Amino acid sequence: MFFKIGIILLVITLIRAEKLTLADIDDSITLNSDVITRNAAQAYRLPVNVIPLEYDIFIDLFFSENRDKPFSYNGKENIIIQAVERNVNQIVLHANVDMINAVSLTTDDGRIVTMNANQPFFLERQYHFLRINLIETLEVNKNYTLMIDYSSTMNDGPMKRGIWRGWYKDADGVERIYATTHFQPYNARQAFPCWDEPLFKAVFKVHLSAPQSYSKVFSNTDIESVTTDLTSGRSTTNFYASPVMSSYLVTFLVSESFQVIAEDKSFNPPIRIIGRSNTMGLADHALHLAVKMTEFFDSYFEIPYSSLHPYLLNDHISSPDWASAGTENWGMVSYRELYLVIDPRETIMSVEHYAATLVSHELAHKWMGNLITCYWWSNTWINEGFASYFGYIATHAVFPEYELHEHFNSRYLQNSLSFDSGVSTVPLNHDVNTPAQVTGHFGTISYSKGAAFLRMLVDMITPETFRKACKYFLTDNAYQATDQYDLYNAFAKAIREDGSLNSYQHFNFTDFYRIWVNEAGYPILNVEVNYAAGEIQLSQERFFLSGTAQPTGQIYPIPITYSTKSKPEFENLRPALMMTGNRAVLRTNTAEEWVMFNHQQHGLYRVNYDEKTWNLIADALLEEPESIHYLNRGQVVDDVFALMRSGRMTYDFGFKILRFLRNEVNYHVLNPAISGYTWLRNRFAHMPETQSTFDAHILSYLEHAINTLGFEPAANETATTSLTRQEVLHFACTMGHERCVTESKNRFAAMRRGTWIDPRIRRNVYVVGVREGGADDFNFLLNRFHSSNYANDQLEMLRGLGATRDPQLLTRYLELTLTKEVRSHDKVNSFNYALLGNRINAVTVLQFVKNNIEAIRKEYVEDAPPNPVHTALSNLAGYLDEEYLVEYETWLRTTQSNSAQFSTAISAINSARNNMAWGTANADIVLSATRSGATSAVISSTLLLIVTLASVTF
Ligand SMILES: *[C@@H]1O[C@H](CO)[C@@H](O)[C@H](O)[C@H]1NC(C)=O
Ligand SMILES: *[C@@H]1O[C@H](CO)[C@@H](O)[C@H](O)[C@H]1NC(C)=O
Ligand SMILES: [Zn+2]
Repeated sequence: MFFKIGIILLVITLIRAEKLTLADIDDSITLNSDVITRNAAQAYRLPVNVIPLEYDIFIDLFFSENRDKPFSYNGKENIIIQAVERNVNQIVLHANVDMINAVSLTTDDGRIVTMNANQPFFLERQYHFLRINLIETLEVNKNYTLMIDYSSTMNDGPMKRGIWRGWYKDADGVERIYATTHFQPYNARQAFPCWDEPLFKAVFKVHLSAPQSYSKVFSNTDIESVTTDLTSGRSTTNFYASPVMSSYLVTFLVSESFQVIAEDKSFNPPIRIIGRSNTMGLADHALHLAVKMTEFFDSYFEIPYSSLHPYLLNDHISSPDWASAGTENWGMVSYRELYLVIDPRETIMSVEHYAATLVSHELAHKWMGNLITCYWWSNTWINEGFASYFGYIATHAVFPEYELHEHFNSRYLQNSLSFDSGVSTVPLNHDVNTPAQVTGHFGTISYSKGAAFLRMLVDMITPETFRKACKYFLTDNAYQATDQYDLYNAFAKAIREDGSLNSYQHFNFTDFYRIWVNEAGYPILNVEVNYAAGEIQLSQERFFLSGTAQPTGQIYPIPITYSTKSKPEFENLRPALMMTGNRAVLRTNTAEEWVMFNHQQHGLYRVNYDEKTWNLIADALLEEPESIHYLNRGQVVDDVFALMRSGRMTYDFGFKILRFLRNEVNYHVLNPAISGYTWLRNRFAHMPETQSTFDAHILSYLEHAINTLGFEPAANETATTSLTRQEVLHFACTMGHERCVTESKNRFAAMRRGTWIDPRIRRNVYVVGVREGGADDFNFLLNRFHSSNYANDQLEMLRGLGATRDPQLLTRYLELTLTKEVRSHDKVNSFNYALLGNRINAVTVLQFVKNNIEAIRKEYVEDAPPNPVHTALSNLAGYLDEEYLVEYETWLRTTQSNSAQFSTAISAINSARNNMAWGTANADIVLSATRSGATSAVISSTLLLIVTLASVTF
């Protein structure tokens, strides 16, 4: 899947705003992976004593025509199973359905196996287990047919996954219901009892019946036949058997009028985009992405998609509702419509940019994830790390105009470094058992660190060897479940054959892999240059953001790349050295010149230098910025903010290094800068004067970028330039940059008069137009929202509406989030927009929460896996001043102490207080540092003196 975007957008809003927030491999390699994965008491895991081979699943879907049980389904399935151990007299599989009506078991020759008369079967709800008790034991390796008859209810909306219903308006404006499925990672058991762990791969045959009018039916494979029963008015669609695959990849969609909205028939199977009838013709861009990336992966893996299975489709559903950004069901990928319906005249660049990586990520999964699949979700990173890596790096090869290989740094590398610097972070391979733990591991570590680890490996072993390893991995494990040892074996084989690491003496790849996959965190490289001796001393330790974290002694194998002023080789990503110990020494010349480590910030580590070297770097950044690669300028920014936050560098010294930012226009440098500024700025929100002084300093840093980027996109500018403008202007307008506000207001007024506004600047125009405007402006945008056919533009409009300063309008906006007009996957984001729009809005949001908490719980879908209500309630705390924090806390303690969100909300209040306390304590230090930075071009020599006196902590 693509990291659930419900969360991701939010994480992006908040975290982007401030980027918040092995067992011994050699032993294990010789072990059978089954043994390793199932040692402990893992109550939520199925026993592996019976395996499914083939499922025939018949589901009868009922919509509103069924008065007694609207939106329900009855299911019947025949599962061919085998016992793989002796003495099995209880069959355990997953079921999370309303009711099991009947169960029976027959042998291959038709004999009925007797079940325990007292209790033939029972549901163990906590574990989603269906236990079937037999009075005889199963014969090993013989086929049995398990028949289960059950019934259940569709979920309302996508958030709880399983089989659910959504809504859309068709081309005639008629509101229609559709039913579809989202099973990843553990929700197939809601649709049919099954062995719902990825390792139990089997063949699935799906048969769906629905009222005859629901004739637009799709699944992973071709339709084999359709039969209609005229008396009941129902049709049954029979699909061909699927390839051998995991249960979470089963899917279907049943609708009255979904249709193919773009198609390329020159492929086998044809590549199709399917969506609402009134998005016909709006998916050509998505089709182009799917076609080009299918071609790419066909030739990259040398396993053509068409060879995977004779009936497997290559369909892409544009779904009006979807709980994540996209989900890689094998023949029928589903996406949130917002990413597939793209129109250059209506869609903002950040969505178009993201869509390219999304479609590519999902297509990569068809090999990495579906053909081979992680054995269990402890190794989610094997699925998600590869898909995320290919989603940027492979996509760059095909769509260079998006420069995704460079955006990888802010999206994955820096995100990983930020997240992975806490004390409680977990390794890539991390034991999970309960559904909540499984959901939790679909996060930054599996996606961002997984992808960044793979990219680091590519640089070491070369792209050719990496590709070879991928091919070994896929061919040696096709249609099977795999684990980190299989992956290790594929890499080790390719590396051995190509001798790709032979030039690194005494380097042990086994250790490298074991440590990076099975140890948490990452290192900081400390660099000390002895200029007189021409020697660079390196040392490492695990990097923690918290100054009080205990050192761990963990040593990470670090691929070292570096440049010096006289020998810049930023393009060279092959490590000069593999640092496998605590310390290392490099020879260099004796010139007093800058050195810089970690070319293009490809390595998963931070770098700190001695004071003199930092000064040399700072001077170069200011005087000859182009002498240092922009991705390394971005790295300096990212590292310096982290060093300051962790107490390893003073703010004075840090902002001295960052003086060069006043001359920057490069996205990859400004992006981490804006994250860093935002982190600080949020801590001054309770001190308006301090914050506005801080803002003035930061705006002076951004003035050059604002002037260079301007307020109108150029016709042929790069995607990266558009993204830079969007981020810089959004930030500048938030800080009240005068010209930014005026220009945006003027454009909003022009839009109200009917002028088309380029989507590349719409975010700002909507937000400022509503924030600075009145009820008419709000109503104008609200009407536009209601009548728009573009989900992506609608989301931008919600962001704009949430920025109103008027408490009454804001309350109307928040009430809108309780209606179906704001789709459930957008609700928390929309809630968040109200908080992001203006600091003062939090007070209105608090009243709204107090008055509507029950409705919020219901409409935001409290019990959906990502815990949307927890998220909303904790976000609120971060925007309230002490007076209202007290009110919030009192309300929580007196009325909500039994609620599921209580302790989360209280701890959010505590961290809000800590943040304010931090801001109060550090305001003078930070203001003085940013003031110096802001004016230091003039007084740099004085500053040097101050800095020297300021006892820099390294
Ligand atoms: C058991 O079932 C599988 C899956 O349908 C089938 O391929 C296999 O031939 C069956 N084995 C026997 C002995 O019938
Ligand atoms: C690599 O290190 C492991 C111990 O972690 C050791 O068992 C193995 O023999 C080493 N490989 C080589 C080639 O030295
Ligand atoms: Zn994914």
